[in-house]
Amino acid sequence: NHNHNHNHHFRHADSNASPPSSAVAKISHLKAVVLGDAPASEEDDVVLPSHDFSRQALVPSQQKYLEMYKASIENPAGFWSGIASSEFYWKQRWGDQVYSENLDVRRGNIKIEWFKGGITNVCHNCLDRNIDAGLADKIALYWESNEPGFDATLTYSQLLQRVCQLANYLKSVGVRKGDAVVVYLPMLMELPITMLACARIGAVHSVVFAGFSSESLAQRIVDCKPKVVITCNAVKRGPKTVFLKDIVDAALIDSANKGISVDVCLTYENQLALKREKTKWKEGRDIWWEDVVPKYPTSCDVEWVDAEDPLFLLYTSGSTGKPKGVLHTTGGYMVYTATTFKYAFDYKDSDVYWCTADCGWITGHSYVTYGPMLNGATVLLYEGAPSYPDPGRCWDIVDKYKVTIFYTAPTLVRSLMRDGDKYVTRYSRKSLRVLGSVGEPINPSAWRWFFNVVGGSRCPISDTWWQTETGGFMITPLPGAWPQKPGSATFPFFGVQPVIVDEKGVELDGECSGYLCVKSSWPGAFRTLYGDHERYETTYFKPFPGYYFTGDGCSRDKDGYHWLTGRVDDVINVSGHRIGTAEVESALVSHPQCAEAAVVGVEHQVKGQGIYAFVTPVEGISYSEELRKSLILTVRTQIGAFAAPDKIHWAPALPKTRSGKIMRRILRKIAARQLDELGDTSTLADPGVVDQLIKLADT
Ligand code: PRX
Repeated sequence: NHNHNHNHHFRHADSNASPPSSAVAKISHLKAVVLGDAPASEEDDVVLPSHDFSRQALVPSQQKYLEMYKASIENPAGFWSGIASSEFYWKQRWGDQVYSENLDVRRGNIKIEWFKGGITNVCHNCLDRNIDAGLADKIALYWESNEPGFDATLTYSQLLQRVCQLANYLKSVGVRKGDAVVVYLPMLMELPITMLACARIGAVHSVVFAGFSSESLAQRIVDCKPKVVITCNAVKRGPKTVFLKDIVDAALIDSANKGISVDVCLTYENQLALKREKTKWKEGRDIWWEDVVPKYPTSCDVEWVDAEDPLFLLYTSGSTGKPKGVLHTTGGYMVYTATTFKYAFDYKDSDVYWCTADCGWITGHSYVTYGPMLNGATVLLYEGAPSYPDPGRCWDIVDKYKVTIFYTAPTLVRSLMRDGDKYVTRYSRKSLRVLGSVGEPINPSAWRWFFNVVGGSRCPISDTWWQTETGGFMITPLPGAWPQKPGSATFPFFGVQPVIVDEKGVELDGECSGYLCVKSSWPGAFRTLYGDHERYETTYFKPFPGYYFTGDGCSRDKDGYHWLTGRVDDVINVSGHRIGTAEVESALVSHPQCAEAAVVGVEHQVKGQGIYAFVTPVEGISYSEELRKSLILTVRTQIGAFAAPDKIHWAPALPKTRSGKIMRRILRKIAARQLDELGDTSTLADPGVVDQLIKLADT
């Protein structure tokens, strides 16, 4: 683990300990450097915000944060309704209750509602409202192609026109409020356009990251039964061309075989990657975007929806094989993503914002499309690979567009750090003002490199901890308010009450380490798992009754700072992508020569975690290089390239208890080569299995 490993130190909280006072950092004894004064060295415990930065910040001090935090916890209804009514357009105000919730399984079904009865529309709030406020000619989107030299822009009013044309087209093919639309697009402007068009007409988008395989795509199509699938013919990623339409074709055959056929496949011709003549086509089902969408009117009435009507579904991995359809609704998600974006990045109207995440993940939903657009921000979309044509590309883009806020994942930071400072320092980067990190813990050395080299020791880093399920930031620094500790996500956002519990679910106080849970709801929380409310309750609310369980481990230091230590369930974060070990296992065992597989996460220098698979071949098959390759190919085709195991460890047998349960604890230690920490192996059915595995470790 890259983080400070605080000793397990369980101290129980008094029953009504209030987070605001215990969250006050008493940091005067720590060694500190001030933002902009000098590089942060390994001896510096904290980086203090500079006077200049704080003076212009939305939240200029710890005091101010604490005041606002306290207000948000003591009176969530007042805090959030104040923001909701002053900063958004509502066709009709919500009912008497700002929110209602039950997070305690012992008191009946889990339910979270915010602004119920309020009538609004997220697309209207992103576009029409900002245009009415004078942003018609402000750049909404900058688009930078994979190939240097190709780019495009859309102003807010142009974006609205494009969105309306697509919305009108979708209506013309029968998409109505509540219908699902599956989107399998790379980072083209058409991706946020599609999301906003769906939101405009009350359709529920389900964006599938365009790195998922046809089988994964089919699985999602079968689950949510879309009226339309939207894709493009191909995309360039670095030097490679990826034929997305072929993947969609295969997925549509697959899903039709499972009883779900899709009538319309709207396909954008991405001319820089592939001409339409070379695209495989199914007449009647497939339609070129460019042939139909531009013919529709550039205005389209908004479908006004209830705050609790669904906005989108996004599938994510859990500890079992089947991906979960995380459902977010309209009002709370809108208010929460906009507010978190504004404060965590100290957003100013003049900012140019770039988030390197793909819209296929939650980060792209909340912090490429919705959060920034709701704030009327100028957003940069980059289509390509971050190190193409060379590792300086990101900083080339930063200089070209004068990017002021740059938000990325630790895995990219680490890989660029490896490539060397020269790729960074040959660019000016002086436009940068705030940096952000997301997806996995950022180790202190990567934090310092990001801070010192990329940000020139001038820019605070918002290390934002959150999840697909949470909709928006949960624990994050507010730049200007907090002294930062490299590697710590610091303190909760307004309205969020994180608690650390022991294995019995008892809240711990002070310096402690345990399971991260959240008490009470926040507006951006997911409301259910699509079609499976029971799994929602079982996975998230039953492990520690009374709380939302995050699946993450966390420690709190004596100053109240939070340190995320990674997942405690069978989920791993590989290059910031979330993968269930069970998904990889089920892909592996589908291989005819694989009898059994057990997958664990292992520390990886660049990816954070790598995928380590123990594989038992079927009787009579011996392990070979050919088999290794074919196993990896199976995972790539069933899930996607990003889920390919980094290591296959041949296992003539797996360590199991007498009742047949695989002992993953032991496998994790073998994978990490921590052979002196194997612990008690006497309960294994056959302890000899362990020695056998160790012998085969480096073959
Ligand atoms: O383990 C945590 C890690 O990513 C998980 C959520 O993954 P996903 O739903 O795909 O969302 C990723 C983008 C929000 C969490 O359970 N994680 C995310 N951000 C951080 C993090 N771990 C440590 N520090 C973070 N800043």
